[in-house]
Amino acid sequence: MKILVMHGPNLNLLGSREKKIYGRTTLAAINSELAAIAKKNKIAVEFFQSNIEGELVGKIQDSRGKIDYIILNAGAYTHYSIALRDAISGVKAKVIEVHLSNIHAREKFRQESVIAPVCLGQIAGFGKDSYRLALEYILGR
Ligand code: DQA
Repeated sequence: MKILVMHGPNLNLLGSREKKIYGRTTLAAINSELAAIAKKNKIAVEFFQSNIEGELVGKIQDSRGKIDYIILNAGAYTHYSIALRDAISGVKAKVIEVHLSNIHAREKFRQESVIAPVCLGQIAGFGKDSYRLALEYILGR
């Protein structure tokens, strides 16, 4: 079993970026919490962050046949990247969409996720725990 955790644009700034919305935890701290859970459960986990849409698309394409599940916070691309959506459905990747904030309770433009229809499900609004909850779902499979 291998899991890929992918973070999209601006998530590299977690911990200093809009702390009231996204919290004080850094991306490195989120990744290390997930890595510790994965290690305890003897599953492999890989991490990837990019601010570039094409790099995220490329990583999803490369995951084919190598990765069982992707935990994806696509950041702002969630709301308009048809390229990411097509990559997910094109390689039939099993993707769990996550968000730190509850996108449905925010600005209108954040309330739509163009990737949601091609993901297994969505976890949003639990801060850094959104990632952990996604991982726990996978561990339960
Ligand atoms: C986000 C929500 C997006 O609307 C925003 O663009 C982000 C972070 C979240 O985790 O809450 O960058 O995906």
